[in-house]
Amino acid sequence: MKSVVVVGASGKMGQEILQVLAEKKIKAAACGSKTPLTKKTLLGKNLVIDFSSPEGLESALALCVELQIPLVSGTTGISDNQKKKLMTAAKKIPVLWSPNMSLGIALLKKSVHLLAKLEGFDFQVEEFHHRRKKDRPSGTALALQQCLTEALPRKTTLPEPIVMRAGGIVGIHKVYATSEEEMIVFEHQALNRRVFASGAVRAGEWLCQQKPGLYQMEDLFEV
Ligand SMILES: NC(=O)c1ccc[n+]([C@@H]2O[C@H](COP(=O)([O-])OP(=O)(O)OC[C@H]3O[C@@H](n4cnc5c(N)ncnc54)[C@H](OP(=O)(O)O)[C@@H]3O)[C@@H](O)[C@H]2O)c1
Repeated sequence: MKSVVVVGASGKMGQEILQVLAEKKIKAAACGSKTPLTKKTLLGKNLVIDFSSPEGLESALALCVELQIPLVSGTTGISDNQKKKLMTAAKKIPVLWSPNMSLGIALLKKSVHLLAKLEGFDFQVEEFHHRRKKDRPSGTALALQQCLTEALPRKTTLPEPIVMRAGGIVGIHKVYATSEEEMIVFEHQALNRRVFASGAVRAGEWLCQQKPGLYQMEDLFEV
C-alpha cells in the first residue's frame, strides 16, 4: 500500500491517521467537507480511509465503487440504508467498516461467545464516552450486544446497553455476566485515539490484499 486518501482528514481521527501514515512513509491525500473527494484525487490511489460523517462515507463509497478502490471506514451513526449500501458496494470492491478499529475490541467481540455459554446468568453491555460523542449507544456497544445475542443458546431479549457520557473518556466498553453467586466483567479501555488510527491503517494494508467483500476487524486474525 503506497498511496492513500483520507476522508475526514482535518478531524480528530483524520489527523491521527495522517500521522500513522507519515510514520509508515505511506503517501496520503487529505479530503474533507471543504475539499471533497473527487475522481481526480482517487487516480493512482490504493485505498480510501474514511472517518468523516455518514454523508461523507456515502459519497466516498460511490466513488470507490466507480474507480474500484478498497475502502476502510470507521464512521459511526450510519443508517440501515447506508449499511445496505456498504453491502451492495462490497460485491464490487473490498470494504471494511467497523465502529471500532481496535484489535482489542475485535478480540472482545470474539470472547463474548465464551460468556454466552454460561447458564443462568444475566448479561449487560455498558459503554462510556466523552461528552461530545453524538451517537448513543455507541456502535461498538451495539455490535457487542449483537454478538452476545447471536451467541446465546436461546432467543433472549437483552436490556439496552447502559450509556454514560462524561468528560474526555476515549472509550470504555464492558460486558457483564451476573448470576446469584458471581459476576464476570469483560472490559476494554481505549487509552487514546491512536489505537483506532493504527488499527485502521493495519486494516487497510490487509484489505488491499483481499477480494471484494464486506469485512470487519475480526477478519484480520483468527483466534
Ligand atoms: N471506528 C472507530 O474506531 C472510531 C473511532 C473514533 C471515531 N470514530 C468515528 O469517526 C468519525 C469521525 O470522528 P472524529 O472524532 O474524527 O470527528 P471530527 O473531529 O468531527 O471530524 C470529522 C471530519 O469529517 C469531515 N466531514 C464531515 N462531513 C463530511 C462530508 N460530508 N464529506 C467529507 N468530509 C466530511 C469533517 O470535515 P470539516 O471539518 O471540513 O467539516 C472533519 O474533517 C465519527 O463518525 C466518529 O464516531 C470511529
